[in-house]
Amino acid sequence: MALYSEKVMDHFQNPRNVGKIDDADGIGEVGNARCGDIMKIYLKIENGIIVDVKFNTFGCGSAIASSSMATELIKGKPLTEALTLTNKAVAEALDGLPAHKMHCSVLAEEAIRAAIKDYYDKNGIAYDKADFPEHKDEDEHHA
Ligand code: FES
Repeated sequence: MALYSEKVMDHFQNPRNVGKIDDADGIGEVGNARCGDIMKIYLKIENGIIVDVKFNTFGCGSAIASSSMATELIKGKPLTEALTLTNKAVAEALDGLPAHKMHCSVLAEEAIRAAIKDYYDKNGIAYDKADFPEHKDEDEHHA
């Protein structure tokens, strides 16, 4: 069996939503200290809906594929729904990632979360801090 699914290869080679939103309402940047990869997500939000999303990922192929898939999954969705997106759901939508590459999908979940938090902070919107843990547990990285 190939190490990477066709979907991973497709989103790596033809990533969706690459770029930057100049007047973004929320920006999230996260990194993984171990591999050094960095992911940045830009959100355009109207009435609680993510009307546009772009990303810049300086990282491995799985991180690029994860960002691409994650942005597709949250585009047009309410913030409340985007907040429930897990790295596992991103990996599943990609038809799986190798175990040692699951942390790449964690970056996507964390970057989206960070961008939503940035939007809430900038607009003085109250939120439940439990929705924004600093980092996921190491166990969940491999879930
Ligand atoms: Fe670290 Fe992929 S190897 S994000």
